[in-house]
Amino acid sequence: MPSIGAALSRPLGLLAELTHRCPLGCPYCSNPLALEGRAEELDAATWARVFNEAAALGVLQVHLSGGEPAARRDLADITAAARQAGLYSNLITSAVGLTAKTFAALVDAGLDHVQISIQDSEPKSADHIAGYGGGFARKQALAAEVVRHGLPLTVNAVIHRANIDRVSALVELALSLGASRVEIAHVQYYGWALKNRATLMPTRAQVDRAVAAVDALRARHHGRIVIDAVVPDYYAKYPKPCVGGWGRRSLNVTPSGRVLPCHAAESIPGLEFWSVRDHALEEIWTSSPAFQAFRGEDWMAEPCASCPRRTEDFGGCRCQAFALTGDARATDPVCHLSPRHSLVEALAEEREDADYIYRR
Ligand code: SF4
Ligand code: FES
Repeated sequence: MPSIGAALSRPLGLLAELTHRCPLGCPYCSNPLALEGRAEELDAATWARVFNEAAALGVLQVHLSGGEPAARRDLADITAAARQAGLYSNLITSAVGLTAKTFAALVDAGLDHVQISIQDSEPKSADHIAGYGGGFARKQALAAEVVRHGLPLTVNAVIHRANIDRVSALVELALSLGASRVEIAHVQYYGWALKNRATLMPTRAQVDRAVAAVDALRARHHGRIVIDAVVPDYYAKYPKPCVGGWGRRSLNVTPSGRVLPCHAAESIPGLEFWSVRDHALEEIWTSSPAFQAFRGEDWMAEPCASCPRRTEDFGGCRCQAFALTGDARATDPVCHLSPRHSLVEALAEEREDADYIYRR
């Protein structure tokens, strides 16, 4: 098996995609184009086994995600299973579908942390972006419940052309909701988001203003809230170390039990994914073809193969490399050293004021 340094590393985080069902229609949805249906979803007992296997493998944290995880009626049972396995549980939710009562059941089950996605600081715009009337008010209500129960709250704001000029207001909103962390997360152009790329793409001037705003906000609110933000891919000089490197730090389990090295891995053709229905998680981590595909450095081409940054960014994102060049082994074209970097520069200039194509 290819090695990462001296030995195969252990995963720290597990993204448990409990369902692909979701009431929202966000135009930047990063879930795959072909969603898995309710009939294919793993049951709570299987999730419990997966969590135990994950803990044995070294995983410390499970992200209960979707779609909207609250669409699962057995979410409290699944949360309890995470606690029993000794995992720190983080609920990633749109807040739609969770009432004060159903949320209290999750707290009783041992939930540790909540992350609520917020589409904008202005209610009308937020509901328009989500394609769901009344969603903003529900997020405020759930945030109040999270704080009332004494759980730590993170606000995740996906940023694009329509809301990037309100980064400051979004951070102020997160503070007012009682969040201890806010993620300024620029749209990643995978899955459904590719359909809306030209509509979502910010301008260079907007990105520069947002970067300056985040610097000022960090100084102003130091010690009050942690602000996570990076320069958006299409305007960055170097790519991000996507998922901390392929098969190094994390794994994703889809609603039906397929185990992926990253959220968008199914967009790369030809990869063979194994399922928790057929294999133990450790076997999948160590031996499944999809996890082996881009581990280590053997697969790298130039300029990555001889670049000193290859141990920091691992050549960038494989899914983005495939989406933009058709070659998943290529240097992520976000990198200014990539021979295909002009592709990214050209796409960053493509903007269109069209209606969103909502995820339905
Ligand atoms: Fe990273 Fe490859 Fe660019 Fe070097 S050439 S900075 S390893 S993406
Ligand atoms: Fe798949 Fe980046 S999203 S490697």
